[in-house]
Amino acid sequence: MHPSTFATTRIGPMIRAAGRSPLKAFASGLLAVALAGVPTGVSAQFAKPEDAVKYRKNALFVMQQHFARLAAMAQGKAPYDAKIAADNALVVANMAALPWAGFVEGTDKGDTKAKPEIWKDRDDFRQLSEKFVVEVGKLRTASATGRLDDLKAAVNATAGACKACHDEYRAK
Ligand code: HEC
Repeated sequence: MHPSTFATTRIGPMIRAAGRSPLKAFASGLLAVALAGVPTGVSAQFAKPEDAVKYRKNALFVMQQHFARLAAMAQGKAPYDAKIAADNALVVANMAALPWAGFVEGTDKGDTKAKPEIWKDRDDFRQLSEKFVVEVGKLRTASATGRLDDLKAAVNATAGACKACHDEYRAK
């Protein structure tokens, strides 16, 4: 089965099974979908602080390359192609789960733009990363509908989640 088909077919039953809080279950369902491609037990361990910094920056960099393809389509700078959109959204979804493990204690120094506030407001930073992963889940679903308008809306919402975190926690 194509991965994007997988995403759309899984969400329906999750909502129906939700019962008490459909919206919340929908969000966590999307989170599950977004994380579905990342095997459990894969969470990174780092030999030294510099490795953690390099890891998160590289993960964010790779994610950005694939998000840029989607943004270009959403902005009409690249022709819309549903298959390419779905493929790139899948990479974004898989990458979106990774950077956060690299924000380990004591890595606000060195070759990094991470602000020290990340470790002072840990809960807020985690919530922003979780909200972001939910948006990326929606992006993946939207990329599978074959409708450019769906992609545009989801790209905008996702970019908003990038910005919300960068404004607060990434140095200029
Ligand atoms: C929860 C917070 C958060 C979210 C969400 C987030 N970022 Fe970031 N991003 C950061 C922080 C913090 C840094 C600085 C990391 C460092 O220098 O150690 C960063 C750095 C980057 C970098 C620079 C990586 C490098 O090579 O140095 C890119 C590119 C990037 N983010 C793209 C994105 C994009 C695109 C999105 C959304 C699709 C996004 N980020 C979402 C927090 C976030």
